[in-house]
Amino acid sequence: MHSTSRRITLDKFSRYTSNELEAICEFNPDMEVELHKHEGGKYLKIRNVLKRPDDLAEFCSKFPCQDRNKSIELGQSSPIKSKAPGFQQPIDDIYFTSLNKQIAKIGIQNNLIKYNLSDIKYRNYTNCCYPGMKAVAENYKPHVDFFSTAANFYLTDVKNTGTSFYKIETEKRSIYTDVDLSRRLDDPDIKAAYDEIISSKSFPPSCLTQEKYDELMLEDDVVEDWPYWKGNNVWERYLYIPAEYNSCLMYRGNIWHTITYDPTVEDVRYSLVSVIR
Ligand SMILES: [Fe+2]
Repeated sequence: MHSTSRRITLDKFSRYTSNELEAICEFNPDMEVELHKHEGGKYLKIRNVLKRPDDLAEFCSKFPCQDRNKSIELGQSSPIKSKAPGFQQPIDDIYFTSLNKQIAKIGIQNNLIKYNLSDIKYRNYTNCCYPGMKAVAENYKPHVDFFSTAANFYLTDVKNTGTSFYKIETEKRSIYTDVDLSRRLDDPDIKAAYDEIISSKSFPPSCLTQEKYDELMLEDDVVEDWPYWKGNNVWERYLYIPAEYNSCLMYRGNIWHTITYDPTVEDVRYSLVSVIR
């Protein structure tokens, strides 16, 4: 990286005017909005959502990032807290003002978002899964995101990839959120599920003491080949939504979910996320 040139040329940069940025975020007037109910809640699926999805992918791909999973695989520590698979690129929401507003409006119209448009805060990042990526600390298992709605814009056409939703099935009930789980820890069935969740570090923070949390975070993360995971004796997948090219999936982050990605597919999966809170 050491440079002695003391110069940089403009062609090294990726620059956009505000109109160009508006254009890459433009929604398609012919998009198809569908509200679906499912056992754990509801979600919105919008097909054919963007006018120029490839231009948006191109714009986002230029942002540098730290690949946390790769760092850990190579024995390096990483300050990034997110356990997301592959790598993420946090991108300032200033670039996505119109995209965020448009998607939030659709969420409000369909009652998936309960806030007023003017009170909403946004955060944007990409998710990138790639052939050969490793799993770190079982990050293929379900997690919850707190108090937010996520809108995933799928920017690539890749087989066997999508977003999966999981529940814990016990004799008495189905459990879809960690808040439900935390309330029922005295049920022996649920205790077993809880232990499994703790062991994978996809724990529900609401039932951990800070002490226990710190202790778990000090343990080394297991690195393994990324699996095409569809559940186990604790986690039952009840819904799988394929990451259809140029569609947007919007769901509440408090229900357990995870990225599904088939490592035998030789394609990069790329999506942009708007987190709405
Ligand atoms: Fe998530």
